[in-house]
Amino acid sequence: MVSDHYNLLSKSEIKHLFPRIDEALDKAKQRSSDFFIQICGGHPYFNENRGKPMLAKRHSPFAITTDARMIWLGCYQQVLSKMDLPEDVLQSFWNYLNVFSSWMVNTAEQ
Ligand code: HEM
Repeated sequence: MVSDHYNLLSKSEIKHLFPRIDEALDKAKQRSSDFFIQICGGHPYFNENRGKPMLAKRHSPFAITTDARMIWLGCYQQVLSKMDLPEDVLQSFWNYLNVFSSWMVNTAEQ
């Protein structure tokens, strides 16, 4: 899921934010997968490999506008629509992404 999301992001209108080199993109996928496994109740890989999430701080070097958020969410929507998830799981995960992504917006539109 995370890999597919990053593949879409790296072809999207916000591709400039994400690593262009495959090896760097793979590492980004790994960090993000670690995080999502952890918040879905799995092994705390992110804390082990990266420390406390502090995601607003980790996103602060990147200019994230509300438009960028909508593109980011849109890429997730595409990925999730191809997964065969139970409706309640899908809704719960989507609610999480929707709320959490609004906290990552750190730049006003130009
Ligand atoms: C609002 C739209 C968002 C944009 C445009 C965005 C963009 C980025 C960028 C550019 C990076 C750095 C490159 C990378 O490591 O991938 C990053 C890292 C990351 N993002 Fe986001 N992000 C967004 C929302 C979110 C949300 C909602 C979550 C989690 C619920 C999240 C989780 C992460 C994680 C775990 C990392 C790796 C942090 C690290 O270990 O350094 N992002 N994001």
